[in-house]
Amino acid sequence: MTTSPVAEGLFGALKPQAADSLLSITGQYRADPRAGKLDLGVGVYRDAEGATPVLQAVKAAEARLLDAQTTKTYLGAEGDVGFLERLTPILFGSNAPANVFGLQTPGGNGALRLAADLLAAARPGARIFLGGPTFPNHPLIFDASRLKTVSYRYFDVETQSVRFDELMDALVTAQPGEAVLLQAGCHNPTGADLTPDQWRAVADTVSARGLTPLIDQAYQGLGLGLEEDAAGMRLVVEAAPDALLAYSCDKNFGLYRERVGALFIVSANAERLDLAAANAKLLARGHWSMPPDHGAAVVRTILESDTLTLGWRMELDTMRRRLVEVRRALAAAGPALRSFGDRHGLFAQLPLSPAQVTKLRTEHAVYMASSGRINVAGLTPATVPAFAEAYAACRG
Ligand SMILES: Cc1ncc(COP(=O)(O)O)c(C=O)c1O
Repeated sequence: MTTSPVAEGLFGALKPQAADSLLSITGQYRADPRAGKLDLGVGVYRDAEGATPVLQAVKAAEARLLDAQTTKTYLGAEGDVGFLERLTPILFGSNAPANVFGLQTPGGNGALRLAADLLAAARPGARIFLGGPTFPNHPLIFDASRLKTVSYRYFDVETQSVRFDELMDALVTAQPGEAVLLQAGCHNPTGADLTPDQWRAVADTVSARGLTPLIDQAYQGLGLGLEEDAAGMRLVVEAAPDALLAYSCDKNFGLYRERVGALFIVSANAERLDLAAANAKLLARGHWSMPPDHGAAVVRTILESDTLTLGWRMELDTMRRRLVEVRRALAAAGPALRSFGDRHGLFAQLPLSPAQVTKLRTEHAVYMASSGRINVAGLTPATVPAFAEAYAACRG
């Protein structure tokens, strides 16, 4: 009897995996000849022309770097320390906590992975409370780090409302020291954020129960503004004995492919912080050894210059205002889309079945993730009516 070549080799034992469906949707969109087609798939900012341009502040910083850089020797395990120092007040405000340690990571995803590994190292078999629906990389990363995920419903897609009661129920079930993932703002995939009162209630419970928040901050400045998008998260960090913050500069600086992020560790106790920092550095060495330089150097160069910082803030505000404008147009387009006006950032999660998503694509040339998540940056006020009509036709 002959064995098949697939069964013979080691890799034949691996489970088959589906291809990234968002990338294949983008391919289908490109091949679609229909005029007026809409790409609401991949989660990057787009301007009204559908482009994701390099920010002018980034271009200017890159020109300066090209001129001034004298070496390509490795950065240390912590990464670009100037980048971390300049980012700290943007994230924490003028009253940064006393004990903070930052470490540059490859994107927000790198920071999430490092945070998850640190939680698992601190408490083998640790649980993390995760509200759904959420960024699909969250469960992927937590599984890879061997954390046990406890899921609860954060958002009811059918009624388009945050289930704050279910979030609070989850928090009171968590044991002291256990971790809870919270998105700081511009929630992916729903766009539905906590109100200031809700953040205060979360902070009180985190404090009362001694929980460890893992804050995911990937869109600062794209919701209500740089300060506003950090206000709730700051309350929670302040209330917690220990906290972790996974930060991404990939969206708010438009640096996606440069993979710019940081993990910030905060502790009420300086010795605990030193322990956590030393362990995080070791874990980072096991993953990527040293982070890449370019993107973080660009952010540092911008933040070191008052002129470039001002330019970046203005460009960020332009992006934010465009998202608000599209959301307002959606909210005005009919009762089914009214809640879009109160939501923030790039995303919305529509109550659509996979068959309805397919119908929108085949019959109306509207492309989105198979989960029903849309990127509102794929729309303009001018294209909103066509989208609203197609959506209504498919919802029935
Ligand atoms: C909720 C959330 N967290 C973190 C990230 C991390 O992004 P990146 O690794 O590209 O910096 C993203 C990006 O899509 C996200 O949506």
